[in-house]
Amino acid sequence: MKKINSSNLPQHIAIIMDGNGRWAQRHTIGRIRGHKKGAQAVRATVRACLEIGIKYLTLFAFSMENWNRPGEEVQALMSLLEEYLDKEKDKLHKQGIKLTSIGELDLLETRVKDKIRRAKELTKSNTKMTLNIALSYGGRDEIIHAVKNIIQDSKEKKIDINKQTFSSYLYTDNIPDPDLLIRTGGEYRISNFLLWQIAYTELYFTKVLWPDFTKEQLIKAIDSYQRRERRFGMTGEQIKVNKII
Ligand code: FPP
Repeated sequence: MKKINSSNLPQHIAIIMDGNGRWAQRHTIGRIRGHKKGAQAVRATVRACLEIGIKYLTLFAFSMENWNRPGEEVQALMSLLEEYLDKEKDKLHKQGIKLTSIGELDLLETRVKDKIRRAKELTKSNTKMTLNIALSYGGRDEIIHAVKNIIQDSKEKKIDINKQTFSSYLYTDNIPDPDLLIRTGGEYRISNFLLWQIAYTELYFTKVLWPDFTKEQLIKAIDSYQRRERRFGMTGEQIKVNKII
């Protein structure tokens, strides 16, 4: 296994967990069983991030566009989420993990919404790691939601619209921008995920299908991140001088 430098860890890792359907196809089983295997990879990844010392992990579990999938698949994904919350909520809490979510939760069934609300309430004071689940989430929807709220609030108070205030109107208020975005499944696209927040995020794409994603894969992604120079629009020289200072 590759070694990682604990003094240069990405503070926030976001993951587009793609490839459950193709994994199922390769194993000649139904898509839903692929998602079940994907939920196991979620458990392993949360554990690995906690062990490595990642502070924020955002998982793209269900996109706004996923509502258009066959009803049976949508239902199965919701059941998997419920099962995850039922089984993992207390464990997350014991491990000091705070659960948060981003997305249009109002579109979810009341029962699922209540489970999410209860898990958030239980874990709200935890500080070891934040597990942020993107559910019924779309980056463009998030931006429109923010603009509408800014217009609404500006009727009552003057709002100085700048990058900082705009960010505070996004679902990710209080969560730093991702340092590393991982996409499994071999596609090279962003698929409406965290459009505003990934302006300076390092991107890592792997052909590994999500159900096959392991701690070793995660370490490979972190190793790739640690070999890069993040310049944020500056020159390499400026970055070196800043590091010395
Ligand atoms: C994309 O694979 C994956 C999803 C749409 C759902 C992700 C859900 C899980 C990993 C399981 C449940 C999550 C939690 C948090 C318990 P795809 O179906 O698009 O795969 P394909 O591109 O190969 O068809």
